[in-house]
Amino acid sequence: MAHHHEHDADDGHEHKHDVSHDHRHGHGDTDIDWNEMAPRLESQAELFTPLYERALAWLGHKQTEPGLIVDAGSGPGVVSCLLADAFPGARVVAVDGTEPLLERARARAGRLGVADRFDTLAGELPGVLDDVEYPADLLWASRSLHHLGDQRAALTAFAARLAPGGTLALLEGGLPARFLPRDIGIGRPGLQARLDALEEEWFARMRADLPGTVAETEDWPVLMTAAGLRPTGTRSFLLDLPAPTTDRARAYVAASLHRLRDGFGDRLDATDRATLDRLLDPEDRASVHLRPDVFLLAAHTVYTAVRPG
Ligand SMILES: C[S@@+](CC[C@H](N)C(=O)[O-])C[C@H]1O[C@@H](n2cnc3c(N)ncnc32)[C@H](O)[C@@H]1O
Repeated sequence: MAHHHEHDADDGHEHKHDVSHDHRHGHGDTDIDWNEMAPRLESQAELFTPLYERALAWLGHKQTEPGLIVDAGSGPGVVSCLLADAFPGARVVAVDGTEPLLERARARAGRLGVADRFDTLAGELPGVLDDVEYPADLLWASRSLHHLGDQRAALTAFAARLAPGGTLALLEGGLPARFLPRDIGIGRPGLQARLDALEEEWFARMRADLPGTVAETEDWPVLMTAAGLRPTGTRSFLLDLPAPTTDRARAYVAASLHRLRDGFGDRLDATDRATLDRLLDPEDRASVHLRPDVFLLAAHTVYTAVRPG
């Protein structure tokens, strides 16, 4: 991968349990069971809500009130509902390949009282966008593009679904999240940087295993321009929950490290593996459950571009 990517701990490393329906080419650890990930995708997006709200406020300042918003790769619809909230005059269509996630999105829209202007559409991106009835004034794609084999073709398909003057907002990249100081008093300093390197390798394998995968320089404004759009801005948004942090952030950190241990534990050296085990042992004073220095610092980048009118 050419760019510095923030893959998030929610981005997978699970083996699909039922490979019989699997149309992907994954043969190792890169198939993602999105349905199994639902609770985690949902709680993570909830934790990151302040970041999304600031990103959507930024979008709101850049454009006139959208009539139709498409959330491409919406997952369980946390951000789709935030979009409905931020743009009270808009109808939101949450689009995803995993129907059970859309079921969660609909339930959420119901709970939040926006169901009357909330739809879902199940199918494979980007082709499924052909089934959206009207051109979108805002197409939001948050950490979904990088799961599509041909990102350039997908961006062209996204652009084609925009109304003249409509905005494409891509949330991709940013920085790897940080949970702990460099030196945590046990093991060898720099554990998170080494985990990031393993995650980066996993990400490259994940992309290589996608159907129709195409290697691409991930310069989003350049690719948006190639798709016929005019880039209008790039901005990064922080989630900054300093130590001593909240129980929710702690739970997220613990879940993230658990996944890394399960996914990459065998690729770590014995010292790092032992450190990770201590960090995850709820009985250990040095664990992320009990230690006072746990924090959550993350940055996501949003790229916008407009379809010329
Ligand atoms: C990392 S999640 C992001 C969810 C949400 N946008 C967010 O930012 O929290 C990626 C989402 O893209 C969906 N997805 C991945 N590949 C897809 C494909 N080929 N077609 C449709 N949806 C896909 C997954 O089901 C998942 O919900």
